[in-house]
Amino acid sequence: MSADEQHAPRPEAETLAEPLRSRWSPSVFDPHHELSSADIEVLLRAAQWAPSAGNSQPWRYLVAPRGSAAHDLLVPTLTRGNAGWVPRASLVLLAGVQVAADPEGRDGSGPKSVDHARHDLGQASAHITLQARAMGLHTHQFAGFDRQAAASVLGVPSYVELMTGIAIGVPLAESADEGLAAGDGLIGSDRARERRGRERRPLTEIAFGGRWGEPWTS
Ligand SMILES: Cc1cc2nc3c(=O)[nH]c(=O)nc-3n(C[C@H](O)[C@H](O)[C@H](O)COP(=O)(O)O)c2cc1C
Repeated sequence: MSADEQHAPRPEAETLAEPLRSRWSPSVFDPHHELSSADIEVLLRAAQWAPSAGNSQPWRYLVAPRGSAAHDLLVPTLTRGNAGWVPRASLVLLAGVQVAADPEGRDGSGPKSVDHARHDLGQASAHITLQARAMGLHTHQFAGFDRQAAASVLGVPSYVELMTGIAIGVPLAESADEGLAAGDGLIGSDRARERRGRERRPLTEIAFGGRWGEPWTS
């Protein structure tokens, strides 16, 4: 059974369409896989064409392929739990949202609603995760990094809030773990996290019909 099959949503979600069905968040990426600039551009176009309130397009991404100067600056800001697995991914996209007007007037007047802007950033990032899956890649989003430190070393302006990162790459087969160099930093907890079953709240807790709190029924 492939890793994607092992992690497929079940029970009762077997009918989900691709690329939703085979999306999951690996923690052990192949540290030698590289993404071409053409592929990175397609991923960014998935965000570019996401819907947004008033077509305000408040999302911004800092593109940090493994080995780039931006990647070197970002890695020290990761939390301990993320410092092992995030750097092995081929690419990190650091996601930010414009929350105010650019005082120098180059980046527009900012969103009418910051709440909707944050919503729109999440949706744009979701589009990246699904486009990535359609391209044979996997993603793992993360919030565990020092946002202030990252904003400072990467020169993020004050009218943009960094929110999350998206690690993108291809999962490493467990059979290849032994071939990893010590410098690749594999720790058992990364594999252990992957092996944990994927669980979800039942629909009765997230979908209501009639009145709020009354489970929706088919
Ligand atoms: C906003 C956000 C923040 C997250 N932060 C982290 C993180 O800091 N570290 C981590 O290992 N996973 C992080 N995750 C991944 C979630 O734990 C993961 O998506 C969730 O357990 C569901 O698993 P699945 O993506 O395989 O369905 C984050 C996901 C999201 C959407």
